[in-house]
Amino acid sequence: MEINSSFNCNEFLNILEPSVIKINQSLEQTLSIQTNSETSEAMRYAVLGGGKRIRGFLVLESCKLFDIKEEYAVQAASAIECMHSYSLIHDDLPSMDNDDFRRGKPTIHKKWNEPTAILAGDALQSLCYQILSHTKTHPDPLVRINLISSLSVASGIFGMVEGQALDIEGKIHFDNDNLNFISNLQKLKTGALIKWSSLVGPVMNNSEIETLTKFSDCLGLAFQIKDDILDLEGNEKEIGKKIQKDSQAGKITFVSVLGLQKAKEKAKELIDEACSSLDIYGDKANKLKLLANFIINRNF
Ligand code: IPE
Ligand code: IPE
Ligand code: MG
Ligand code: MG
Ligand code: MG
Repeated sequence: MEINSSFNCNEFLNILEPSVIKINQSLEQTLSIQTNSETSEAMRYAVLGGGKRIRGFLVLESCKLFDIKEEYAVQAASAIECMHSYSLIHDDLPSMDNDDFRRGKPTIHKKWNEPTAILAGDALQSLCYQILSHTKTHPDPLVRINLISSLSVASGIFGMVEGQALDIEGKIHFDNDNLNFISNLQKLKTGALIKWSSLVGPVMNNSEIETLTKFSDCLGLAFQIKDDILDLEGNEKEIGKKIQKDSQAGKITFVSVLGLQKAKEKAKELIDEACSSLDIYGDKANKLKLLANFIINRNF
């Protein structure tokens, strides 16, 4: 399949929609918990109120490559979307990025308060592992352990949390090799969860993960570069969060290190590389290629 420079995002959103519906149905079910505290309501508000479900879609498509049962894939997709939502709730906290809007709505610490936001994030992380450890996700306990242990690496101090810490400490690390610094930071901060999502298929199938590792490394980096570009030139209404926060906070991003034009070129190169790496899967990987193109062409 050719990589299209005049990519039609709306067409891709139609392709994405059936997956979003399945993931949302599963999340609605998982989150239909009745508790006495406001935290469970905040969890529902955060997870069910939007989100592109890119990570969930990656799980579903990765599983299709290996003919994994869709019911297993949907469970893993819901789990990673809970983990992702937790990371966003904490990312928006006043002590982190201090953001008042997310997915077009007030953030949890604005709608409720900071303790509720912290606790909702904590509980979503736990819920993610609760889903992954359930037999509905996979009947083989070894597969479930692999999913859980790889996600604990990807989401913690060897992955997303370390990336977030470097993002917050950014200026302390400012030196002559900022390109290397930002590449490593983004690989951890955003890349790690995207990579985990892309590898669910081979992990469930006990297959090699090399090809999809190459794909997801490129995709994850391009995803965060585009996020940084949108922070600079996106439209607040469309994107559902405040823009121009990175430069105000003095964040080191690909845009701040390379400049806007070179950052765009870099993202395009990465997406071309990501797509080429999928060629060995033939037409079965077409939707993943479309997703990759959507990642750099999206406006939200
Ligand atoms: C935003 O992720 C945060 C980053 C990791 C850069 P998404 O753009 O996937 O956010 P949602 O889930 O669609 O809201
Ligand atoms: C957030 O990165 C990454 C994680 C939540 C792990 P950003 O801070 O750039 O995300 P946005 O721009 O607030 O969505
Ligand atoms: Mg941040
Ligand atoms: Mg942020
Ligand atoms: Mg951002």
